[in-house]
Amino acid sequence: MAGRLQIDDKLLTIKPDGSNVGTARKMAEDIVDAIIEHFSTLRTKDVYSGLEIKAPLSPSLNWEETVEYLKKVISSSMQVSHPKFFGHMDSGPLFVSMLSDWVASAMNQNMLNPELSPLASGIEELLIQWLLELVSFNEGDGALVSGGTVSNLTAVLLALHHVTKGRFRQEGVSSLPKKPVIFASDQAHYSVSKVASSTGLGEQSLVEIPSDSHFRMKTGILEQEILNAELAGKLPLMVVATAGTTSTGSVDPIAEISVICQKHNLWLHVDAAHGGGALFSHSKKDLLYGIERADSVTIDPHKWLMQPKSMGVILTRYNGMLESLFGHKAPYLTEKSSEHVTDWGNKGLQGSRRFDALRFWITKLYLGDDGLSKLIEKGFENVSKWDSMLREKENFEIAHRSDLNILCFRYRPENMDENEADLLNDSIQRELMKSGKGYLSSTTLRNHRWLRSVFLNPTITVDDMIEVLEEVDDLGDALK
Ligand SMILES: Cc1ncc(COP(=O)(O)O)c(C=O)c1O
Repeated sequence: MAGRLQIDDKLLTIKPDGSNVGTARKMAEDIVDAIIEHFSTLRTKDVYSGLEIKAPLSPSLNWEETVEYLKKVISSSMQVSHPKFFGHMDSGPLFVSMLSDWVASAMNQNMLNPELSPLASGIEELLIQWLLELVSFNEGDGALVSGGTVSNLTAVLLALHHVTKGRFRQEGVSSLPKKPVIFASDQAHYSVSKVASSTGLGEQSLVEIPSDSHFRMKTGILEQEILNAELAGKLPLMVVATAGTTSTGSVDPIAEISVICQKHNLWLHVDAAHGGGALFSHSKKDLLYGIERADSVTIDPHKWLMQPKSMGVILTRYNGMLESLFGHKAPYLTEKSSEHVTDWGNKGLQGSRRFDALRFWITKLYLGDDGLSKLIEKGFENVSKWDSMLREKENFEIAHRSDLNILCFRYRPENMDENEADLLNDSIQRELMKSGKGYLSSTTLRNHRWLRSVFLNPTITVDDMIEVLEEVDDLGDALK
């Protein structure tokens, strides 16, 4: 038809004159219904159904077909909100956060510059201020980033900026008087190694410190390695202490490490990507004792705090340092639209950035500090119940004491050889996932394979745990 766009029968936006409000409401309701129907019947569904999703043949879909397609996406996804999914640091999102995120998408603010996001920039300020108080930094700086990896990257850049008195920004690695060394435990997340290579320091700049029987950094060896690096004419730059290691959720002895860092003048970064969740619990906060002495901290609200992905936080005790590292001017951006609003584009690596702060801030407002505390404590309660169940059961072994909400264990009948147990537990993990009856991950600890459980989801019940454990037991029996 002359003059008609091919998309004339599609709703592009809600028209500002209200003329398509009926269609818009119906579309939104279709999605709300699909989401609510799915989540409210999750317990009757498999954790993973393994369905494939194909590109449709037609050039474009009508709305009903689009809804059907989206429903397939919902039903074919890994059901991270399922109460029998306790395999990773991934959780279903809190409903209030999911809904707030829709508002953030709708308003599409750009955190790049406060003139594009005056209110949103102010909300991120409130959020960061709250988090700084939580780690007991009297003052400091911080910003939202895409996750733990970028937060750890920012921490290394901050340490380099600090040690070179700002020269790293202009001169890069040539501003370093000696070869820098980063110390992290053998359990630290691989992002630390990624960061070492991508900052131009190289993976060789990383020294792995062995961990003890509970997978916590051995501080005696740390100090020895710092001295070795000094003797070798290198520059001990920083220690990355992990609060909540990825495999076992172990918390490095942060306070002891901070004393060593102070003595040898090293930057202390605490990677609390996962374990930072414990800071929100009134009764467990002290597990991260010493974090208040760190120079920088990573926290990932998209892990234990059940925020939709992706959301990480970098915090530092040095006010103004992020801006002195990342600040830039551009002729088309106003320098400061208000005395009081932070220019987030000058505080991080990312340029255009979503209004991620909203969903976490609204979560805080809605649940309150007490609600958040209860949410986190549920993870501690569940892992402790799980630990007791495993101890009571024949043929199961536990790998470590659980500092937080993670527990590694394996099925290993008496007299079974370690190598045989490795193969068996890998098979159990794969078959459990294929069955859709539960989801656990697996990991390697001291060269052997273990099943790994992570308790985030507050809807997990004792019955869910019993059923998953029975399934693992049956698979072990059948596959051995
Ligand atoms: C301790 C730790 N640090 C950093 C990361 C990286 O986080 P992200 O995947 O959000 O980049 C992880 C991820 O599991 C982690 O466990």
